[in-house]
Amino acid sequence: MFDFNYFTPTKVVFGKNAESHVAELIKEFGGTKILIHYGGGSVVRSGLLKRVTDILDAAGIGYVTLGGAVPNPHLGLVYEGIELCKKEKVDFLLAVGGGSAIDSAKAIGYGLANEGDVWDFYDYKRTAEGCVPVGVILTIAATGSEMSDSSVITKEEGLVKRGYSSDYGRPKFAIMNPELTMTLPDYQTACGCTDIMMHTMERYFTQGGNMEITDALAEGLLRTVKKNAVILRDNPKDYDARAEVMWAGSLAHNGLTGCGNDGGDWMTHKLEHELGGLYDVAHGAGLAAIWGSWARYVFKNCLPRFKRFALNVMEVENAGSDEDIALRGIEAMEDFYRSINMPTNLRELGVTATEDDLVLMAHKCAVGVGGEMGSARVLNEQDMLNIYRASM
Ligand code: NZQ
Ligand code: ZN
Repeated sequence: MFDFNYFTPTKVVFGKNAESHVAELIKEFGGTKILIHYGGGSVVRSGLLKRVTDILDAAGIGYVTLGGAVPNPHLGLVYEGIELCKKEKVDFLLAVGGGSAIDSAKAIGYGLANEGDVWDFYDYKRTAEGCVPVGVILTIAATGSEMSDSSVITKEEGLVKRGYSSDYGRPKFAIMNPELTMTLPDYQTACGCTDIMMHTMERYFTQGGNMEITDALAEGLLRTVKKNAVILRDNPKDYDARAEVMWAGSLAHNGLTGCGNDGGDWMTHKLEHELGGLYDVAHGAGLAAIWGSWARYVFKNCLPRFKRFALNVMEVENAGSDEDIALRGIEAMEDFYRSINMPTNLRELGVTATEDDLVLMAHKCAVGVGGEMGSARVLNEQDMLNIYRASM
């Protein structure tokens, strides 16, 4: 077991009609002039945005709105948000939506609280010394950004997708009403379940430092999401399944399932971020398309963890060699992806990449991680290319 810091300052208000508390929460955290930041319009169509503005009007809280955060949110809108907030003297950012709106709001918060170009943080040139407070009304269970320290932004020039992590960016509050996720397309629900599981799996397939309590939490979380993803495939309006998945999404990425281990592998995410930047695919689907190829490439270097995963999460039969068991666990995971209509390779993801594209992605990925990275197995640029090739 390694030493660890666990910092989860986000106040969670969970359940039916939780969004009715938005005004009191903003006041509790000192907001007086708000930017309501959202995505492509689902919150307009569902009526949620109108409900929120009605609540703020009734509470006498001033606000401006900025929509347009796309999946794989763009730096250009972040700059626009920073200018708008300066002009309107905004002191609190309310993201209403999913990871894209939340991450874009966090980036706006960094841009407001720090001098200079906000992209510097995502480009690893310097670190932020503050962030304007962010609150969240979550509409999709997926990234865990509602409690996480990270924000992922795509710079349009060169299609560079990069994440920045800082405790300053952790939201002050997260309003989570599982009913708000019932309007999601089935595909996005499945993408979300995939991402949630992957956040725990990234921290699970590591070298050493594992704690019994962390493993038990991780395996329980993975089994729960796996089971409820299938329930939601068949009955998207199942409130309890929505709630299980929504809470799992936060716990999967607020640091809980990383306590005691070495911080995680994260290479499936890094490989996916290049796909998301270049082809604009849904994050969860991109992860599913890459994971099997990554797992087969690295499992022998991390065999005890892959065996444990196969037995305790995928519940395969405990028979044969450790390698057989581990491989059957990987196959069972891919069968699960197929069962919820997630891709298991780039072709199924709808990406037709040339060899040059794969070389470019591997290069950008290697540059993004500073040469090499990984815990289950440390990967260099050639390894990354090999995994992209295997995922075709
Ligand atoms: O944009 P709108 O119109 O709102 O539609 C969205 C979008 O098309 C739609 N949607 C969301 N809630 C809905 C809904 N449609 C109907 N009803 C609802 N209730 O779903 C689509 C996806 O939304 P998005 O916010 O893009 O999804 P997600 O939460 O998966 O966020 C993805 C982004 O987060 C990053 C990803 O890389 C990607 O850029 N990540 C952020 C992380 C973090 N900050 O901690 C960690 C993750 O690993 C991830 O990298
Ligand atoms: Zn993710």
